[in-house]
Amino acid sequence: MSILSDKHILLGVTGSIAAYKSADLASKLTQAGAEVDVILTGAGEKFVTPLTFQSVTGRRAYLDADLWGSEAHVLHVNLGKAADLLVIAPCTANTIAKLANGISDNLLTITALAATCPLLIAPAMDGGMFDHAATQENLTRLKERGATVIGPAQGHLASGLVGAGRMIEPAEILGHIRIALGRKEKLAGKKVVVTAGGTQEALDPVRVITNHSSGRQGYALAQAALDAGAEVCLITTPTSLTPPIGARVVKVNSAEDMLNAVLNESADALIMAAAAADFRPKNVAKDKMKKRDGIPQIEFEAAPDILKTVADSSVEKKRYRVVVGFAAESQNLLENAREKLQSKNLDFIAANDISANDAGFAVETNRITLLFANGTKEILPLMSKSEAAEKIIEYILKLLE
Ligand code: CTP
Repeated sequence: MSILSDKHILLGVTGSIAAYKSADLASKLTQAGAEVDVILTGAGEKFVTPLTFQSVTGRRAYLDADLWGSEAHVLHVNLGKAADLLVIAPCTANTIAKLANGISDNLLTITALAATCPLLIAPAMDGGMFDHAATQENLTRLKERGATVIGPAQGHLASGLVGAGRMIEPAEILGHIRIALGRKEKLAGKKVVVTAGGTQEALDPVRVITNHSSGRQGYALAQAALDAGAEVCLITTPTSLTPPIGARVVKVNSAEDMLNAVLNESADALIMAAAAADFRPKNVAKDKMKKRDGIPQIEFEAAPDILKTVADSSVEKKRYRVVVGFAAESQNLLENAREKLQSKNLDFIAANDISANDAGFAVETNRITLLFANGTKEILPLMSKSEAAEKIIEYILKLLE
């Protein structure tokens, strides 16, 4: 169940060339499980047809003509009442002005007046229009009334100008929609720190020792915590993944950097999903090691154990109320995981068998067993890393309650 799966999104599309990108947004929202009702303004309809939206949402798209149709007297009220969120993307300067002044001269603006749900707008217009004092004042009024304004982004505009005016990309709008919906969820007001990725331990200025961790489970946990309404700090090593919108990202390389970053935060929960190194080269060569100097003999030393340090430092200062670890095991899964649960003083541990080819490193799915400090356990079936993340967040929520 993603945050979007039981949600009703009303998507307003106004007259900007960015309207074609809204079809992608409507498609992404639908794929994530939301019911998407689209309202096109007269100008919006000139850029994209209702059929485009109907094809991706599987639902009727509404036009100004519907304002005068047989259901007209209740349509705007029903659309407005049913919505969990009203998103207007792209939102022109004209529609922003109407919203700011309560003008309701088309189906979208009448519905906006009738709706009681939060409003999120993604402006799109030429740079000069965005900078104009009238637009800025209108946006300020909307923000003061609680609307969320996202963007516009800098870039090339249809007029040929370069400046702020481009609608932000659908993937980013989707991230903001998740945050807006998460505000009412149970972790609102709570903070969660998540670590992700495999650490990199330097051998010399160009070489590192690392592992196969992709960071996917950690990123999915950060997204699940955001969806649950939490403020999220994602401490991550370099990965190919895009951090979820709304997470504060702290970039680290080594286990030592990660330890410092973890000790620099405090939160309701810490989830150590990162694959931190246990060993690191004792000496890091200042210059690149040369082949002509022969095969190097590398001596290792212990890297700091982050969870153990957090457990030990909690004697002076308890930084995290709930601490969750992961155990990546290729043998004796439960026995080893239970030992880590105790030695690292965790509230619970997610044990995964990395010898299975559908679980663990660099795949989309995970098969984990949760072991709790009170001796209980829950065996989760094979599921996506996002679903596993949602489960883990649910348990954190229970422990925080
Ligand atoms: N961990 C940590 N600091 C490290 C290594 C691991 O905090 N230097 C954390 C991991 O993020 C994970 C948990 O400890 O949440 C268990 O990690 P794992 O690699 O499975 O266990 P280790 O303690 O490193 O023991 P081993 O490698 O011998 O199995």
